[in-house]
Amino acid sequence: MIHHLGDQNSLLHSFIAEIRDEQIQVDPLRFRRNLERVGEIFAYEISKELAYADKEVKTPLGTAEVQMLTDEIVLGTILRAGLPIHQGLLNYFDRAENAFISAYRVYEKDGTFNIRFEHISGPRIDDKVVILSDPMLATGASAVLAYEALLGKGKPKHVHLACIIASKEGIENVRRKLPIHKTSIWVGAIDDELTSKAYIVPGLGDAGDLAFGSKSDD
Ligand code: URA
Repeated sequence: MIHHLGDQNSLLHSFIAEIRDEQIQVDPLRFRRNLERVGEIFAYEISKELAYADKEVKTPLGTAEVQMLTDEIVLGTILRAGLPIHQGLLNYFDRAENAFISAYRVYEKDGTFNIRFEHISGPRIDDKVVILSDPMLATGASAVLAYEALLGKGKPKHVHLACIIASKEGIENVRRKLPIHKTSIWVGAIDDELTSKAYIVPGLGDAGDLAFGSKSDD
């Protein structure tokens, strides 16, 4: 199931426009905050698909019937570019448990690359709802790898994959590789192309570098 949030008019478009805009991107604080704001929107939209139970709360004037989230949530993300969107999700799912996956691209001389998985730090996920976020879904390889790493921690009730900008190829790859009935894909925008180094076009550039600065491979 694909939820393309960019199909409807909402403030999401303004945040994604700022994230993409090379003149606004030069402010890393604003870039991170915009990724976080998109994470907050994803949290609200995904919350509509979750399980709730009735409860009573006492107000100063009486008793109110309220609905409380009953699903147990695990938020997972891939270091380091995923941290701001993860924070946005955590702002709303404030009681969620958290999983961090360390993985990175290793380029060969010919420009091809493999994703190298290093470590996952997180709780058991049996019967819980996992929300895995990655700002950019390019080839889909790191999302699939992160998903598989999470499955080493148990059998989730459902997995929501949330990506701000996705390529068509990335969506096709995750659709082929993830189990359809237990996975939902949430995207803010879908772009047509990938460069030879698997960057999304027009995309936004390198989300990790824009949020946290460039890194050296030494
Ligand atoms: N990661 C990024 O930061 N940008 C892309 O375009 C693809 C992957």
